[in-house]
Amino acid sequence: MAALIGRDLLGLADLSSTELQELLELATLLKSQQLKLQCNKVLGLLFSKASTRTRVSFTVAMYQLGGQVIDLNPNVTQVSRGEPLQDTARVLDRYLDIFAIRTFAQQDLETFANYAESPVINALTDLEHPCQILADLLTIQECFGTLAGLTLTYVGDGNNVANSLMLGCALVGMNVRVAFPSGYAPDAEIVEKARTIANNKTEVVLTHDPEAAAKGASVLYTDVWASMGQEAEADNRFPIFQPYQISDQLLSLADPAAIVLHCLPAHRGEEITEEVIEGSQSKVWDQAENRLHAQKALLASILGAK
Ligand code: CP
Ligand code: NVA
Repeated sequence: MAALIGRDLLGLADLSSTELQELLELATLLKSQQLKLQCNKVLGLLFSKASTRTRVSFTVAMYQLGGQVIDLNPNVTQVSRGEPLQDTARVLDRYLDIFAIRTFAQQDLETFANYAESPVINALTDLEHPCQILADLLTIQECFGTLAGLTLTYVGDGNNVANSLMLGCALVGMNVRVAFPSGYAPDAEIVEKARTIANNKTEVVLTHDPEAAAKGASVLYTDVWASMGQEAEADNRFPIFQPYQISDQLLSLADPAAIVLHCLPAHRGEEITEEVIEGSQSKVWDQAENRLHAQKALLASILGAK
């Protein structure tokens, strides 16, 4: 059992390489075996943005472990009327055993975690989406039997998913290439952090050339061109990102055994074509299922399920 008892997961690099790999092993085990929490624990979901997969997979994971969930939409709490995050965190901490938080600023997540003693999990911020990457790596491991040495190419916006993917790939010894239009680079500090973790043993490549990036890759990955909170920019972004679409043509440059991943929700005809997402190389439904198994492993290891 991975020993993450009582720990926060605010960004993917909060985990060491060994801890990440142990979590993936536990997730694999949990796909076929039930674990139960020693005592009843309650997870609070504090989501300031929409969610289908993260909300439901965290809820089902907690139920399957024998725990309970309270879905705290900020609109129904005093947060919507301006109660400070610091006060909310200290109060909710007295009722709840663990939190999964989806918000805009990474700083808000960190403030909450500073004021709450219970573990806090990043369920997506503008900067990172670590839980998504746990499921992505689990999916890649299932498809190829290994992670180290493979190359993942992410094409599109240098957003939260791209940031956490760079960290995740570096942590498990995968090469990562990010192809993005000028002005839409991933976070510079995270690029540096990923390169430090990779320690020149694997590549962390940034490029504006999607075709060069796709060449020979084992995994092609994309995400929406305008993330939650950027809806007003969507029309302007469309022509800028058009060359970064995952199409059959781009996929033909990857390794013939390559798989295609997308964290979902997807916009067919924008970042990915209908043919590719519905094609035989697409593993997006397995990837979405793995959110459940990966987060169950994370909860079990933070809460000490046996
Ligand atoms: N991939 C993902 O996080 O999906 P949701 O926004 O539906 O949770
Ligand atoms: N980058 C996307 C991911 C959604 C799961 C967003 O933040 O909206």
